[in-house]
Amino acid sequence: MISLDLQTVAIDLADRSYTIAIRVSLFDNPLSYAQLPKAGAALIVTNTTVGPLYASRLERALSAQFAKVYTVQLPDGEAYKTWESLNLIFDALLGHGCDRKTVLFALGGGVVGDMTGFAAATYMRGVPFVQVPTTLLAQVDSSVGGKTAINHPLGKNMIGAFYQPLKVVCDLDTLKTLPARELSAGLAEVIKYGPIADMDFLTWLEAHLDAVLAREPAALAQVVRRSCEIKASVVAQDERESGLRAILNFGHTFGHAIEAGLGFGVWLHGEAVGCGMVLAAHLSQRLGLVDAFFVHRLVTLIAKAGLPTKAPVLDSADNAGRYLGLMRLDKKSEAGEIKFVLIDQPGCAVVRPAPDALVRQVIDLCCQK
Ligand code: NAD
Ligand code: GLY
Repeated sequence: MISLDLQTVAIDLADRSYTIAIRVSLFDNPLSYAQLPKAGAALIVTNTTVGPLYASRLERALSAQFAKVYTVQLPDGEAYKTWESLNLIFDALLGHGCDRKTVLFALGGGVVGDMTGFAAATYMRGVPFVQVPTTLLAQVDSSVGGKTAINHPLGKNMIGAFYQPLKVVCDLDTLKTLPARELSAGLAEVIKYGPIADMDFLTWLEAHLDAVLAREPAALAQVVRRSCEIKASVVAQDERESGLRAILNFGHTFGHAIEAGLGFGVWLHGEAVGCGMVLAAHLSQRLGLVDAFFVHRLVTLIAKAGLPTKAPVLDSADNAGRYLGLMRLDKKSEAGEIKFVLIDQPGCAVVRPAPDALVRQVIDLCCQK
């Protein structure tokens, strides 16, 4: 039975523990922030798309708690996940004379969340921050777990820090204004939790995908809660990705190569991850870990979610070579050896290398001709 009561998921990280609150009508309710530490000022970090939609309502809610509430709007898009945008946050903090008790609020998708978290980790050597994610992707993944980063032209999320928020406020109402393409992108990070951790959840998604795509609040609540529960459990066991947490990167090794190879922002992150899962599933099959039925089931769900299942050609002369070169830059690579997140058996992932020849076969199979 799904309810629209307030749902909470706890992230158990000793003195860095926090809760994720999930419901409609949350982000503009002052009670959502009543337990935060007292501070003179808050800075809302948002972007030029989300700011006009939601910033003034968050400002009003926060003014019950903070004497000064400032807002800074960053340019919108993955292409702006850069030092220049990060500096706009520091300019605002310093320009307003914000001290080390100032609380930052990330109001937006994963790009705003990752940059705000990195700014919070480094401003005056660390100030508190709260995630108010407004995309499905951010509610089910990026706002949770404390990974913060900006991109480098040579690689995605290459500069960053682990830094946990004080709280995550997932307001399902904000998803009403999300473009359909972005909803689909978020579903990639939702679908990934099935093959890596919970095949019952994958079965539930297969049965309820239409309700999710129609943005029925009860279906969205279930998607966000179960995704956050799985992520919270993994992060609690391995906060800084010394092992287990890498399974959350299923589809990302191929996906990051697609994003970097095409240029950041050409494909959405979630689209690249969705397609990356197709390649990783085929590689798992070629290594004898899963059967063709599993691959077919996963690819069907990814396609039904509105995500690409054919990978782009990155180099007409040596496409597979280009993919391999980009993947060697992946953070999981060691001494040039690429570590893939593969499905060991449905519901269970493993991180391991694969022979280049097999990877080339899979890229040839999955790339658009
Ligand atoms: P995004 O932040 O670019 O947001 C997608 C688009 O939707 C943007 O144009 C944004 O302005 C717009 N938008 C956001 N909320 C909206 C709303 N409610 N209504 C209308 N428009 C809205 O992209 P994303 O998919 O949210 O996040 C992708 C980023 O997250 C990538 O940079 C990725 O690396 C990062 N990420 C981080 C983690 C992590 O653990 N930190 C995990 C997964 C992804
Ligand atoms: N999105 C991958 C992770 O948080 O580890």
